[in-house]
Amino acid sequence: MPLNPPNSSNATFLDDVLHGLGSQPKQMPPKYFYDAIGAELFTQICELEEYYPTRTEISILQKNATDIATKLGEQAMLIEYGSGSLDKVRILLDALSDPVALCAIDISAEQLKAASKEVQNAYPELEVLAVEADFTQVVPLPSPETSPKAHVAFFPGSTIGNFAPENARDFLAGISETIGVDGLLLIGVDLKKDASRLVAAYDDAKGVTAAFNLNLLQRINFELGGDFDLTLFRHIARYSKVNGRIEMHLESCTDQTVRIGDHAFDFEAGETIHTENSYKFSSDEFQALAQSAGFDHVQSWSDPEDLFSVMLFHVSSR
Ligand code: AVJ
Repeated sequence: MPLNPPNSSNATFLDDVLHGLGSQPKQMPPKYFYDAIGAELFTQICELEEYYPTRTEISILQKNATDIATKLGEQAMLIEYGSGSLDKVRILLDALSDPVALCAIDISAEQLKAASKEVQNAYPELEVLAVEADFTQVVPLPSPETSPKAHVAFFPGSTIGNFAPENARDFLAGISETIGVDGLLLIGVDLKKDASRLVAAYDDAKGVTAAFNLNLLQRINFELGGDFDLTLFRHIARYSKVNGRIEMHLESCTDQTVRIGDHAFDFEAGETIHTENSYKFSSDEFQALAQSAGFDHVQSWSDPEDLFSVMLFHVSSR
């Protein structure tokens, strides 16, 4: 008996899984990584030696907090897309002058609840609005009690890299519409670098990223009544230079048939489920992408090794 038998609230998950496994090549949207276990595994990934993005971005934010805060202005409303632990936004909140509200948007309900409660306790003056939502769909903004002087979309972690370029453009254009003419976008972008460094970040020695990837199959087993044998799939991370992206896959170790409810899916040995893309950008490439979505570049901050960039844009006046 699966822990959570299929029900209507799982309709989208089930639809997406059946569609993804029925496609050729097989694939799965990365947003489904983040059940409670996946969110916890991702927190562990962020602490790995090999996974440089999180600590590099945090150090950039800390080092330049005053400068960034000046550019964001006073009485800002911050809107964080995929807010996770909410650790990074605190660096901004500490440096900002009189921020009025924080809107935290995340797909992982448990983590969203816990993290927004913590922030509310730490910043009693701040209006914290938690929105449980899939930000790949348009999310209408709740109105804070105090009207802000500027709307600042905060999208750290290089999560933008999960989108294919045309979807990234649509997503950013949606943000520019949501935040309006006085809007700013502060976004974390992982920069192109040596392939071996990139692959190590997505295929760590402790196997945490492998567990994160494989947890998707476990989640299908629990929530949708699947019968994936996790020992018969292995984690793969590779860098595609032509596409400028890390790809994660789950590779079938053998010929096998997997069942999900009444549906059966055949795998050949070596066949993969493509579970994630993580695009890497040069600074110019990203500025061009943002420009095409209606944003003008204001300023960028980077680390001494140029591993990662925190970039500020404002909505362009048309
Ligand atoms: C949360 C999408 C930014 O692509 O680096 C980390 C997810 N996957 N390790 C990334 C991830 C494997 C992460 N993002």
